[in-house]
Amino acid sequence: MGISKSIAELVGKTPLLELSNYEKKHNLEARILVKLEYFNPNQSVKDRIALAMVEDAERKGLLKPGYTIVETTSGNTGIGLAAIAASKGYKFRVYIQDQVSEERFKVIRAFGGETIKLSEEPAVAKTLEETGGDFVAAIQALKEQVLDKEKDIFFVDQCSNPANPAIHEATTGPEIWQDAEGNVDIFVANVGTGGTISGTGKYLKSKNPELKIIAIQPGENSLPSEANPAPEEITGVHPFEGIPKERVPSTMNLDIYDEKFEVETIEAYRAAREVAKTDGILIGTSSGAAIYAATEVAKRPENRGKTIVAVLPDTGLRYLSTKLFEEEYQG
Ligand SMILES: Cc1ncc(COP(=O)(O)O)c(C=O)c1O
Repeated sequence: MGISKSIAELVGKTPLLELSNYEKKHNLEARILVKLEYFNPNQSVKDRIALAMVEDAERKGLLKPGYTIVETTSGNTGIGLAAIAASKGYKFRVYIQDQVSEERFKVIRAFGGETIKLSEEPAVAKTLEETGGDFVAAIQALKEQVLDKEKDIFFVDQCSNPANPAIHEATTGPEIWQDAEGNVDIFVANVGTGGTISGTGKYLKSKNPELKIIAIQPGENSLPSEANPAPEEITGVHPFEGIPKERVPSTMNLDIYDEKFEVETIEAYRAAREVAKTDGILIGTSSGAAIYAATEVAKRPENRGKTIVAVLPDTGLRYLSTKLFEEEYQG
């Protein structure tokens, strides 16, 4: 590969791994191939969109030297952007959901970024309270009441930025197709902004119109409710069905998937704990959810002999302060 001159050159081209030992242990008759996005320079799939959204803004003249890059995120996009901002010489500020693990705040600050908890920004806190946690409305309030009044900033907004799904269509999809040698029957992905599933799914379906796309949504017990206001959640993964359409990010193409698959956080934890032991990969909660969903789909008789590809968004190292790898925690 030679010498790289910037971390921008290290984004993407992540490996596709067959979960060989895990498949044997579960007597699976379908193959599960996982796209290991923790091989990105800052250990998550979000490095792809961070670079793409920054370079798209540079090309469009929306981001210029001396500007501050601003984003709201559950963490990984913030980390990716903080690193790209550092390497390109921009300042960076991020608004982060309060419950996000402490590691993420520390990493962003290590890159020289500024971190602000959503609850610390009055316009956001008020909207979240008034709407019962409507994240899309909260971001809108932040934009209108805070960011639009500032100068020399570029608000990335991964939930409405078309460069997000576009980079998955341009890179994640083709990488999977090439590495799997055109042999992909089922594609499994989480949905947060929907960028991964919408872009990758679009490319894969263009190559194989028979492809089935499975979209992961958190199970009922893994979402805040009146009875359980602070459950263990799957970081970065949000409902897209059963909620008002205006609460779904515009980066999510609701026509792209064939099946919605609900995963509870504890099922995701167990799958992540298991593949660490069977195949030696340390992955985050949403990756565990993708493996759990892929396994259940692989067990269906009609899928015997098929190839299932799942995107694993990030590293387990980002969850050491959570219950993910606390084996005694069983939900
Ligand atoms: C850990 C993790 N998994 C999954 C996702 C969902 O990916 P996407 O936003 O492309 O739908 C995210 C996004 O925030 C994430 O941070």
